[in-house]
Amino acid sequence: MNVYDILHKKRWNKKLSFEEIDFMVKGFYYSKIPDYQMSAFLTSIAINSLTDEETFYLTKSIIETGQIMDYSEIQGIKLDKHSTGGVGDTVSLIAIPILATFNIKLPKLSGRALGHTGGTIDKLESIPNFNVNLTKEDMIKALNKVGAFIALPLDLASADKKIYALRDLTANVDSIPLIASSIMSKKIAANSDIIVLDVKYGNGAFMTNYQDAINLSKTMLKIGKYFNKVIGIIISDMNEMLNSYIGNYLEVISAISFLKGKYEQFPKLKYIVFSICSLALYLFENYENLKNNNDLQEININELLNKYESKIIDKINNLEALNKFKEIIENQQGKSDIINNEYKYFYPKITYDYYSKSQGYINYIDTYRLGLAAGVLGLARKTQEDIIDNNSGIIVYKRLGDYVKEGEKLMTLFAKDNKSLEEALVFIENSIDIKPNYSNSIKYIYNTFFI
Ligand code: URA
Repeated sequence: MNVYDILHKKRWNKKLSFEEIDFMVKGFYYSKIPDYQMSAFLTSIAINSLTDEETFYLTKSIIETGQIMDYSEIQGIKLDKHSTGGVGDTVSLIAIPILATFNIKLPKLSGRALGHTGGTIDKLESIPNFNVNLTKEDMIKALNKVGAFIALPLDLASADKKIYALRDLTANVDSIPLIASSIMSKKIAANSDIIVLDVKYGNGAFMTNYQDAINLSKTMLKIGKYFNKVIGIIISDMNEMLNSYIGNYLEVISAISFLKGKYEQFPKLKYIVFSICSLALYLFENYENLKNNNDLQEININELLNKYESKIIDKINNLEALNKFKEIIENQQGKSDIINNEYKYFYPKITYDYYSKSQGYINYIDTYRLGLAAGVLGLARKTQEDIIDNNSGIIVYKRLGDYVKEGEKLMTLFAKDNKSLEEALVFIENSIDIKPNYSNSIKYIYNTFFI
């Protein structure tokens, strides 16, 4: 086998075997194949795509470069929840404690901020002393004691990091087989029984084309099934921020408020959290049947919400979910007095109110620019070593379709310094379009699939 023949084959869109794909992945990972040849390989994939079988081979090969989590000591069904990334995506902070109260085991491995989107790990680190670096033993202990943890991954699907960095440099990020294999290699190696994915679609998501979001979802479902997982996916909206609180500490504040029963203040977040939890509960309750099922099924999310919403609300109203969040924080050495007073550690350096310059209906929100603005205010790292300011962020007071008067407060910005504020204001200007009418219908979830 040689690299040239494999590159030539893929360039002419011929089907590759597992051995050929594996030769490229491992060769590159172990530095036997140089960047320029791997770049050509990735570009051919991005242009010609891969069959489902080839995507499975690519995923399998990436998985084999890292370890696979071993939860054989853990009794019970394990469930993993993952989002493809968005702005104000606070769902994991709320859904994990809720689901843990239903006796589901939740080993949650999360990442840091990527591009204009936030990362669950950065959000949790805004809680003083919260430890995101757990050993394998810590993880097992947490699952037995609390039922859940949220931590940085161990060395899972190790080649993904190196491949992702090259994709990023060579404009090969937005390829469905490459995204699907990148996400699913980490999810399969994390080794839960059930995987619930929230695929974001819209101007603040990595998927800005609806058909691409569907194709990505179906590709990931098939990969999940190849690896014998029960897997469910929702395609949810990212044409505006999910939560009106955008920022690490701001999102922790809103998660605690939500779990204290103030979820009506966060309408879109409420809808997505309850939908994700309903889908997760459905897959959990039907796990044994679904394990042997091979047919893709589509369900109206409202049917699932009708079945589970009241059970979820009970867990919030009786404070079980809030107490579970407290347990997770305490188990990872975080300061849990934040639960009693969620604003306790909120000391923004600069606070700036931003007012509307015209009146009318919010017609369009450039969610991508909003995410960039939040990053510039103090949340984004330019290099891995950069120190971020967890108190930075944005509160947005209006949503799509809302009426706003001229001079009315639209947002509050929290910045690490004046220079960052000025830079962020460049993104904020023109990020919201106001028109005399609003006629679009607002949809939060587009599809729900599972197998
Ligand atoms: N998230 C990932 O982990 N990988 C991708 O390729 C895109 C989003």
